[in-house]
Amino acid sequence: MASAQEVNIRDGQSLYNTYCWQCHGRDATGDGPMAEMLAIVTPDLTRLSARQGGTFPTEAVARKIDGRAPLLAHGGEMPIFGPSLETDQNVALPLASGQPMMTGLPLANVVVYLESIQVE
Ligand code: HEC
Repeated sequence: MASAQEVNIRDGQSLYNTYCWQCHGRDATGDGPMAEMLAIVTPDLTRLSARQGGTFPTEAVARKIDGRAPLLAHGGEMPIFGPSLETDQNVALPLASGQPMMTGLPLANVVVYLESIQVE
């Protein structure tokens, strides 16, 4: 049995470079080649913390990417990635509140990658 993998930014980055850059851009500022085809503005993912007063919104970001949270299940232009990121390896992502959030490893990796690229 393979040993449990740990959350890591590098795997999150390669996942980003597979699924996300087309819209959000190579440097995640929202200027990917597909962005101009969307009816709504593709958000700059380097300013998620800045827009929340400096705290990275871990849970909201994870739910957005997963896409299956009931509140967010309708209306968005962004695809639902939950099924592509499905895994039986769950990890605990620490939230700002101190509570851990259980997510699959690939989702956790992309969330920590996004957290690592936040700018002031
Ligand atoms: C087809 C284009 C497209 C792709 C591919 C895409 N996104 Fe998005 N994303 C959007 C758009 C448009 C929005 C804003 C509207 C919405 O929330 O649905 C958004 C919103 C977001 C948000 C919420 C930002 C905020 O301001 O709260 C996050 C986080 C995010 N995307 C991360 C990702 C990640 C990570 C991936 C890859 C796994 C990804 N996106 C792939 C188009 C895309």
